[in-house]
Amino acid sequence: TTINLSDYAPPSYLVPSVALTFRLHPNRTIVKAVLDVRRHPDTAPGDELVFDGDGIELVSLRLNGAPVDDVEITPDQLRIAGVPHEPFTLEIETAIDPEANLALSGLYRSNGVYCTQCEAEGFRRITYFPDRPDVLSVYTVRIEAPKADAPVLLSNGNPGAAGDLPDGWHFAEWHDPWPKPSYLFALVGGDIVGAFDRFTTMGGRDVKLGVYVERGKESRTGWAIDSLKRSMKWDEDVFGREYDLDVFNIVAVSDFNMGAMENKGLNVFNDKYVLADPTTATDTDYANIETIIAHEYFHNWTGNRITCRDWFQLCLKEGLTVYRDHEFSADMRSRPVRRIAEVRLLKSAQFPEDGGPLAHPVRPTAYREINNFYTATVYEKGSEVVRMLRIVVGDDAFRAGMDLYFDRHDGDAATIEDFLACFEEASNRPLTQFALWYHQAGTPQVTVETDYDTAKGRLTLTMHQSVPATPDQTDKEPMHIPIAFALFRPDGSHFPIADQSDLVKNGVIHLTKRRDTIIFDGIEEQPVVSLLRGFSAPVTLDIDQPETDRIFLARHEDDLYTRWQALDRLATDTILASYRQSNGETLPASATSLIGLYGEIAGDETLDAAWRALALTLPGETTLGREAGLNVDPDAIHVARETFLAAIAERHATAFADLYDSLLSDESYRPDAPSAGRRALELVLLDYLTVSEADGGRARALFDRADNMTEEAGALEVLMLRQPESGETATARAAFENRHGDNPLVMDKLLGMIARIPGPDAPGRVLQAMTHPNYIETNPNRVRALVASFAGANPSGFHRPDGSGYRLLADVIGRVASQNPQLGARLATHFRSWKGLDAARRDAAHKTLSDLRNMRDLPLDVRDIIDRTLS
Ligand code: ARG
Ligand code: ZN
Repeated sequence: TTINLSDYAPPSYLVPSVALTFRLHPNRTIVKAVLDVRRHPDTAPGDELVFDGDGIELVSLRLNGAPVDDVEITPDQLRIAGVPHEPFTLEIETAIDPEANLALSGLYRSNGVYCTQCEAEGFRRITYFPDRPDVLSVYTVRIEAPKADAPVLLSNGNPGAAGDLPDGWHFAEWHDPWPKPSYLFALVGGDIVGAFDRFTTMGGRDVKLGVYVERGKESRTGWAIDSLKRSMKWDEDVFGREYDLDVFNIVAVSDFNMGAMENKGLNVFNDKYVLADPTTATDTDYANIETIIAHEYFHNWTGNRITCRDWFQLCLKEGLTVYRDHEFSADMRSRPVRRIAEVRLLKSAQFPEDGGPLAHPVRPTAYREINNFYTATVYEKGSEVVRMLRIVVGDDAFRAGMDLYFDRHDGDAATIEDFLACFEEASNRPLTQFALWYHQAGTPQVTVETDYDTAKGRLTLTMHQSVPATPDQTDKEPMHIPIAFALFRPDGSHFPIADQSDLVKNGVIHLTKRRDTIIFDGIEEQPVVSLLRGFSAPVTLDIDQPETDRIFLARHEDDLYTRWQALDRLATDTILASYRQSNGETLPASATSLIGLYGEIAGDETLDAAWRALALTLPGETTLGREAGLNVDPDAIHVARETFLAAIAERHATAFADLYDSLLSDESYRPDAPSAGRRALELVLLDYLTVSEADGGRARALFDRADNMTEEAGALEVLMLRQPESGETATARAAFENRHGDNPLVMDKLLGMIARIPGPDAPGRVLQAMTHPNYIETNPNRVRALVASFAGANPSGFHRPDGSGYRLLADVIGRVASQNPQLGARLATHFRSWKGLDAARRDAAHKTLSDLRNMRDLPLDVRDIIDRTLS
């Protein structure tokens, strides 16, 4: 059954307060819920009450203290007929089996720790409830457990009474004064260890911070706490948002379906995004932890204090909160470097989604399974839309609009329309056309023709936009596309640009029509046009621009993000030309000057090392494959990229070697952005240098001298991917397993490397790695490290023309789906680009997808993805 946005109706019954008592038991946890229920004042329901449930056992039920006669109980619904019109009390006792809960939704046990995940619809797996985000309740929770099993008992809000009970049991009570929807409920119980700190808010509230981890991991909590304190301060400084409870707790668990969860006052995290120390976490891990800790913390205002009316509004909290964590990371690190990372992710994850059968609007209008809409479109494109909103209304109106939103909707379950109305008011301009970014799926395409008239000193840009058809949306309206731009003189200075009413303002062209012509006068010499500066809109841009202009921008654009963009475009075009002309075997003649440019950039000490590392990182094969159009052969894409990489390596062999040597450092590890940038550049150079090396000696030397995981794993990855069969690689790999075999998160890095080794042997290698003692299919991190890396980050290995990669993935989905439908569905999305492949691969993918669809007992989550992928 499909749920439609247009069918939204307010809830018939409200639950202003809830008291929950849990008696924790691995296989039979008893949950007693006492609900204060009343009719919604505005709706006039009949007298039947319908609550959600999912696979739970009802133990007892009382209404106003009396047994209930007219009740219908199914595993997924509780229906009571003839309920009173006046407020009443409902007492519901249910029994659940946390140990058997491998779906990791509801209450489950991870490595012996009880924890919950209720977003989106997991609370109904704990008790019967109106499990929808527009029912807000004040929660009081009491947890009882054997003290030895679960010395720590946590829930949302502030701690209350705690103490001992007979028979070695104990209890703890929690009260959350802030009304919240059920998806933000959380409980944790286990033998976990906390690391503590304090934060004083701008209003003077003293907050106790706790980061809880499994016993033995407490030495790896420092970075998470540090990131949390910086997040709290930043949200005060930048958005004026203050924390609102006496405690803020984070718990890291080892089995988790996503990255983390923003439960009020009790964030639960995938331990991959909490645990860090120099010898087990890479620079990328440190950066991810920083941004995800921030993300979940920022949800306290964008998500919790103001929540979503229904799940169609998911981007209201997710897109906005991603935007906020992007801004945070940009302030903590290098803004252009962060922007490059954001755009690379958008292009490799969201653009293919938007361009394939799973495309959907940032705010969808229909779903069968909401968990399948926690997508790159809702999150990443959702963030880009907020970023554009800021460009469109300007910085001041953006801040005023945010303030108005927080002020007006605090305590609400809101909609995208509510959100946009705040910015219409603050900016005093309609945003009707802008709102199409929430409603129209597909990546808009902008084409630009330039014409320069020397005699008149006039530059004319003719712009045209179109939005491709996507599932259920064929005819698209023109969008409001903000295109930041600059016109460069040959000496690298900018031509000053005057505003032109609504069309050109503050260095931004506002394209709102299907076609428009923009004229710039007083341009006394032929300018170099730089468009979409800072990636001001998530579009694809096609401009008739001579190669020399592109090279000019890659050399002189003073906005460093945009300089990278110019370089990336040149690299993409060069690799794709080689792919088209020679299956990637040889380079086009035009590659020569670009190859020279890489040498210039690498050695330019005035440039941030982190930026240089990204500049030297060629576009990924997934993005190249998408840009290559239809009938794509991923093997030839791989060859083309390697050919170009080898040419750069060969031309600059000496310079790169000298630079590499100069970057090696004996300083002890620090996770800050400049040190991380140095290591990133070092590792990119190591990869180039190893292409032309016979023995992998340099990588082996770095592996041996490394005192931190970034260089250790980085060197091993170069060995594994460049020389998978060499003896040096085997020795290094054995040493790595020896050192880190007891740390599953580090072993995941090795599984990921195995999965990413390109070429025909990849499926066999992945199958072999499934016998690795660390690979456990009930743990999503293990499956993602091996199988999702293979399917998502190794195009030449996954897309074997014989279909062996597809069958491997389908087999894993078949096994995983029955225990963890959400994980199975995630894995299934890796088929999303099958229609763009060449005929042999297309046929193989189609066959595998059809077989999967015919599988019996395929859960709805997976069926939904497969059906849409095939449609
Ligand atoms: N709201 C979480 C976040 O911070 C994601 C949780 C999604 N969970 C799920 N089962 N779909 O982004
Ligand atoms: Zn989120």
